[in-house]
Amino acid sequence: MGRLAARLYDRQLSLERPALRAALALARPEPRDHLLDVATGTGALLRELATRSERPARAVGIDASDAMLARVGGLPRGWTLRRADASALPFADQSFDLVTAVYLLHTLDPVTRATVSAELRRVVREGGRVVTVTVATPRPRLRRLMSRVPRRHGLCPLDPSRELEGLVVREARYVRRGYPSLCLRAERPAR
Ligand SMILES: C[S@@+](CC[C@H](N)C(=O)[O-])C[C@H]1O[C@@H](n2cnc3c(N)ncnc32)[C@H](O)[C@@H]1O
Repeated sequence: MGRLAARLYDRQLSLERPALRAALALARPEPRDHLLDVATGTGALLRELATRSERPARAVGIDASDAMLARVGGLPRGWTLRRADASALPFADQSFDLVTAVYLLHTLDPVTRATVSAELRRVVREGGRVVTVTVATPRPRLRRLMSRVPRRHGLCPLDPSRELEGLVVREARYVRRGYPSLCLRAERPAR
């Protein structure tokens, strides 16, 4: 995203907030967690979490766009930002306890999505959690309408449950306020 899009991005954050909060409720973050927020954008999830007592001591936000990262602002000590591609995360296998990907997967084409999903699984530790938020609705008529919107507008609905290979979906919650969304908590099973 360019600088103008990044500047305008935060104006729609109130529409994301209900799902962000639902995602954090599913994620159940703890101070001992090492968190990775993939495609952090302007840091909506990190900023929400930063205000909470249960926030992880260590967190990393990555995004492909410098312009988005530039707008994140101050973060707690121990939290960092990095420009990186979600398709090739610059982290060792099983580096994180909790990996979040908020409003990313439904914006990607199926091939990229499969690569990114594999990366989410690779970098989360066994027994760790992956939490995703996508635009989605359980209402078939609304889903049909939204499916007609070109993917680049970010409103093309997606339930990624069956695409999270190697992860087991433990909880799913539809959120109707703000953007109609689906929050999933999946776990990487221990071998
Ligand atoms: C709709 S925004 C969501 C941002 C943030 N998670 C939020 O909820 O506000 C999508 C973000 O994904 C980032 N993005 C898209 N493709 C990416 C990729 N392959 N690797 C890393 N970031 C990517 C974009 O730069 C953008 O910041």
